[in-house]
Amino acid sequence: MSKRASRANQITSAHGKNGELLMLRSIQPASSLISRFPSTRYYGSKRKLLPWIFENIKTLEFDSVLDGFGGTASVSLLFKAMNKDVTYADAFEFNRVVARAVLRNEISIPEREFVDFLDSVRAQDGLISREFEGIFYESSENSWLDGFLTQLFSSRQILECSDELFYALFQACLKKRPFNSFHRTKRSGQTLNREIS
Ligand SMILES: C[S@@+](CC[C@H](N)C(=O)[O-])C[C@H]1O[C@@H](n2cnc3c(N)ncnc32)[C@H](O)[C@@H]1O
Repeated sequence: MSKRASRANQITSAHGKNGELLMLRSIQPASSLISRFPSTRYYGSKRKLLPWIFENIKTLEFDSVLDGFGGTASVSLLFKAMNKDVTYADAFEFNRVVARAVLRNEISIPEREFVDFLDSVRAQDGLISREFEGIFYESSENSWLDGFLTQLFSSRQILECSDELFYALFQACLKKRPFNSFHRTKRSGQTLNREIS
């Protein structure tokens, strides 16, 4: 499965002096965009290497890229920022969810709806509470995650924004856990719904 990302820089139209249609592309240097790319704790991500990658490919001439082992899509984001046509692929569905979310040109869920969705989540028992008790998160957080999933799948309209909601959830889950500590239990701290918002 692959996802083609449209080019990064926005194209707008305007009329010239004689009424002719002009297509204008706003250009931002890729190097200045890298620091704004989302952080990740994905093992093997090239996120921190992007400035080096950029420095070493910036003079090459090409129009399209296949990011065949795309992971977090950080490399795809770099090429998109360089205004290349990017095709992303990864074997894991959760990575493809991340890629679909971060390679979008616009956020599809308005902030208010996003907050309302989070407020509507009610903790409940489910697969995560049953199967992952005492492994990654507190019991109350596992129940909240089960409630999140139930709420997500309850509305077709919300489901259409599922990539972004899942992405926000993944980022919150990763932020909640210190690097390399997924084997430890009972870390106190902020709750997941605080992290996500
Ligand atoms: C080192 S990670 C990718 C790092 C990526 N450039 C980034 O910055 O996040 C390698 C990726 O290859 C994917 N992968 C492994 N075998 C694959 C296969 N046969 N086909 C597609 N993707 C595969 C894995 O799921 C993993 O996300």
